[in-house]
Order: sequence, then C-alpha cells, then structure tokens
Amino acid sequence: MYDVKKIREQFPMLNGKIMQGHPLVYLDNASTTLKPQCVIDAINNYLCNETANSHRGDYDLLFNMDMKVLETRKVVAKLVNSEPNEVVFTSGDTMSLNLIAMSYGFQFLKKDDEIIVSEAEHASNLLPWYEISHLTGAVIKFIPLDKEGRLTVENLQKVITKKTKIVSIAQVSNVLGNVVDVKSFAKVAHENGAVLVVDGAQSVPHMPIDFKDSDIDFLTFSSHKMCGPTGVGCLVGKYELLKQMWPYFVGGGMNVSFNKNIEMVPYEPPMRFEAGTLNLEGICGFKAAVEFLLEIGIENIHKHDQELCDYAISKLEKCDDIVIYNKNSRNGIIAFNKKGVFAQDEATLLNSKGIAIRSGQHCAKILNDFLGTPATCRMSTYLYTTKEDIDAFVDALINGGDILDAYFN
Ligand code: ALA
Repeated sequence: MYDVKKIREQFPMLNGKIMQGHPLVYLDNASTTLKPQCVIDAINNYLCNETANSHRGDYDLLFNMDMKVLETRKVVAKLVNSEPNEVVFTSGDTMSLNLIAMSYGFQFLKKDDEIIVSEAEHASNLLPWYEISHLTGAVIKFIPLDKEGRLTVENLQKVITKKTKIVSIAQVSNVLGNVVDVKSFAKVAHENGAVLVVDGAQSVPHMPIDFKDSDIDFLTFSSHKMCGPTGVGCLVGKYELLKQMWPYFVGGGMNVSFNKNIEMVPYEPPMRFEAGTLNLEGICGFKAAVEFLLEIGIENIHKHDQELCDYAISKLEKCDDIVIYNKNSRNGIIAFNKKGVFAQDEATLLNSKGIAIRSGQHCAKILNDFLGTPATCRMSTYLYTTKEDIDAFVDALINGGDILDAYFN
C-alpha cells in the first residue's frame, strides 16, 4: 500500500521546515524536488568516505568509484529500460539537449532540413535548436497545438515532411502537464526519416518510460526533479546513434589518444561524451534517488500524482474566481490564475502562508500567447504530496485575504 506518511518521514525538508511562520507546503516539484535522507547520506558518504576521481588511476578508492559510476548507469538503464552503455551523464536535462543539438544536430543537419518542435517547449528544448538553425541553415517548424494545448500525432503528420530530420518534444509539458504519445511520435518520425528527441524532464520522474519499446532515439532528464541532487542528469541515446556522433565537449577522460597532428580518437559511447571530471557526488546521490523511486514504484508514484491532481482540480473547479488552464490534464501539474490577480502576486500571497508554487512563464515563453495570459501560477505535486497540502493550498487561494497583506505584513 502507498504510505505517504512513511515516505514523508524520509524527507528532512518535510519534517519541521517552516516558511513564513507556517509548516512548508511544497508544491513546486516541476521545478525541483526535495531530497530523501538516503540521497543526502549517499552524497555525504562520497564526501566523507569515498572521495576519489573515476577512471584516472589504479588504487582501490578510484576503482570503487568506477564501479559506482557503472552501477549508476545500470540503475538508470533499469529505470527507463535502455542499455547501460546508452546512458551518458551530463549536468542535467538542459546540457543533454544542448549535447544532442550540438553533436547530432550540427553533424547531420544541412540547409533547409527541418527541425520540428512545439510552442509548448521549455527554453531548454527550443534554444539549442535555434542555435543549430543559425549554424546550419536548418528550418524550425512548430507542431500546431490542439485547443487544450496538446501535441497530437495528427498535428505532427500535418507538418512533418521528408526534409524533417529531427522531431524534438517534451513528453510532459512543464506548464500544462499534457502527455505526448511518444511511441506514435517515434513511428511517424521514423517513417519520414527523422529521429525523435524526447525531453523527459517532467515525465521520467513521474511515469514509467520504456525507452526500447517506445523506440525513442534520444531521451533526456535531470536528477534534481526526481529526488536526486542538482548538477547531474542523463542523455539516453540509441547506441547506434551515439556511435555516429562526434563529441561536442572534449578533454580528459573521453579520448583514447591524441597527437601533434591535431588528431584525436574518442572512446566509444558513453564515455566519449563525458569530458572532464564527472559530478561524482551527484552521481552517488542520483543512484540513491533512482533506487529510492524504483523501490516505491514509478507506477505507484504516477497514480499518486494523478489522484492528487484529480482531487485538486475537483476543488478548484468549484471556485468561480479560479481559471484552470489544463483542467483535463492529470499529471501532477496544474496551471491556473485567480481572476484579476497577477500570477506573481498570487504566488507571493501563497508564500506568506508557507505554500511554495511557481508563477510566471515557466521558461516556456511562447506558450503564453496560446494561453492568452502574460503569466500563470503553477502548482506541481510529487510522491510526498498529501491531500492536506492540497487543502491548505486551496484554502489559502480562496480565503488567503488581500494580496497587499502578503507584501506589507
Ligand atoms: N524546468 C523547471 C520548471 O519548469 C525549472 O520549473
């Protein structure tokens, strides 16, 4: 049975943390998540007992760290059903997407080739492609959103052509929480000779993903959105594609040899993409986080998010002065505004009651035109969120008083 109370006991931030004189109600999980004690312990253990570099020496501590990196690749591969050698460590989702663009994109795109994205994307999955468009002359095209802001296969089919080389979309929108059918997207992309890049920042932490079965070409995500530390994440890529890609970041740890003729031979993937010293304490924490999630079960976490979303939306729908922008989405993210109140003011008011949400454009700066508002509030849940958190949030939203009190109290 899913025991949210027991889960919460493992998070120091949920045991006594006070914000503005109130117990913390943390509803900004799409931004970053809280960390359980096992993750904190794993990082601490690296710093206190296990400190060593990886793949640069011959002593026990270093060998053990090599093994830890390998075990982390295995555990991440288990999470998304890929092969361990398809897991490249990066600094996070943003670096992973930049790496695909600068390595695969720069190498294989030419003038007038097409890159398909959507208006709902986070900056991390648009700006790297804008750079590649400027560098190669490739053209950026947008999949039209349906009336609820969703990406459908039908609309992908309307824009994809034989000139399309890359389709790059978020599996779950960080603003609307809509889910893309990535298996069908992969099929359509492949029928047209394109590869599918999936930004999994908001999906991998929250729902089961099968990299092999869905036939995705590249999948990216961050540790910090799934109970792990910041500064570490993954690019998971089909091995045959990774093998074709010339590394964008070069330096120590990624090459077999180099010489005075300006030649360099890179390692095989994944190491060819991991120049420089890895974030090893981050990797130790990431491993602990993935193991923690696997033990609870991603399917269980997904159900929990959906139930809470259902509960919150049913309460919010009863409030006349709340506009919900994604009332049919059930993936732990609710975008809303209070009528007549600027989003940031509402977030400030909620902060004054100890409730953490995000307001603004959420780095998806094109989507606001579609939503018809300059900014939204966003609440987002995770495995430790309770119905009591939702009750406190809705109560503060409805009965929170004047927003000016939040500024001047
Ligand atoms: N990508 C994070 C968010 O949506 C920062 O809040």
